[in-house]
Amino acid sequence: MTKQWNPEDWRKAVARQMPTYPDAAALAQAEKTLANFPPLVFAGEARALEVDLARVAAGEAFLLQGGDCAESFAEFHPNNIRDTFRVLLQMAVVLTFASKLPVVKVGRMAGQFAKPRSADTETVGDVTLPAYRGDNVNDIAFTPEGRAPDPQRMVQAYNQSAATLNLLRAFSGGGYANLHQVHAWTLDFMGRSPWSKQYADIAARIGEALDFMAACGISPESVPQLQATSFYTSHEALLLPYEQALTRQDSLTGQWVDTSAHMLWIGDRTRFAGSAHVEFLRGVLNPLGMKCGPSLEPEALLRLLDTLNPARTPGRITLITRYGHDKIEGGMPALVRAVKAEDHPVVWSCDPMHGNVVKAANGYKTRPFERILAEVRGFFAVCRAEGVHGGGIHIEMTGQNVTECTGGAVAVSEQNLADRYHTHCDPRLNAAQSLELAFLLADMLNREMQQRRSGAGAAKVA
Ligand code: TRP
Ligand code: MN
Repeated sequence: MTKQWNPEDWRKAVARQMPTYPDAAALAQAEKTLANFPPLVFAGEARALEVDLARVAAGEAFLLQGGDCAESFAEFHPNNIRDTFRVLLQMAVVLTFASKLPVVKVGRMAGQFAKPRSADTETVGDVTLPAYRGDNVNDIAFTPEGRAPDPQRMVQAYNQSAATLNLLRAFSGGGYANLHQVHAWTLDFMGRSPWSKQYADIAARIGEALDFMAACGISPESVPQLQATSFYTSHEALLLPYEQALTRQDSLTGQWVDTSAHMLWIGDRTRFAGSAHVEFLRGVLNPLGMKCGPSLEPEALLRLLDTLNPARTPGRITLITRYGHDKIEGGMPALVRAVKAEDHPVVWSCDPMHGNVVKAANGYKTRPFERILAEVRGFFAVCRAEGVHGGGIHIEMTGQNVTECTGGAVAVSEQNLADRYHTHCDPRLNAAQSLELAFLLADMLNREMQQRRSGAGAAKVA
């Protein structure tokens, strides 16, 4: 049904946000190296995620997607991977416990390196250099050597992704994610947050339920679901030479799969008609995300859906809204109505981060936590009013105790921002803020479930 497709076809289309490599031979060499490396994920895993996301689209599960804005070579450390993973587990527990819906866990991890930029160059004083495009392209240091795109960085990004994924696989299958560990996922520095107490209460109740079930003969030994979890990876498919080099033909079906991650998404700046990124992604079997912001017209969205999901397969497409706290309720309904009218099965997920960036008085780029929460509330209000499932959340967060977003129960003030501002790109929620957000989400999901049970409104989801 899909038109003929080859992994290199995107090269004939309009490719925005791509670096200009100074040395074409070095680029070709790096691409060749990558093309000979083993796949990071297997086609069957990407299909399993599609099945999980189809359940989300049907209103029977919730998608939790989170991690760094940009992974970096400098912050590569097992403790960072572990801490982000454990906060995601905590959030998943809170959400599952409150809503009684299974949670599909997807990290912005093990490949999230490339960054879209508003300008190709950056000027400081009278020096103009290429903009920083992520560690898989160039260095954040503002020097001519640092900012020159270096194709060997793709090889390093692959290696870091492989090692990260290896650890994530070990954590999710090797005992760390065992529900009996639910207490152990709390990070030491989170003791001060009032939400830690709430979390400890849930953990205690889960512990009791597990003990009761163990006495009935249901234990992690007899029921493997209690001791392992499926954890998937995702990133923005921005750097197409890298994505192409890792795209392989599934030996079982002949279908193409981008083996750099389970799920890939397309950003707000690269999802226009005729875009190389759309051309590339339409041909791979991975589940796809698409960022939807104020600039996206319903008609353009429908045409993109026809291109990316002509067979209307549930779980194939996740629409990730990113409007801003004051625009979501005005902008999102038109998209929901258009998508419903044409029967495209999608997951609706809320990115409350990217529309809520402000500059603090001291110059730091930040995101006020209240605005993030306000966008989440607005998103669920639209979902309730339009009768679709508020299916997921997409956040930039870290397990580290950073001070990058202001606000939260353990308030970060504008003056505190300088204390531990470590991000390579956008400000992330810290562990305490992430947990607090999970409790708000649990609340929102409960309201949706209640509305569904009482049959009020148009809450039945297609
Ligand atoms: N396997 C189930 C799931 O992934 C239960 C589970 C095991 C779980 N470990 C977990 C749920 C950690 C949340 C967090 O949903
Ligand atoms: Mn970002």
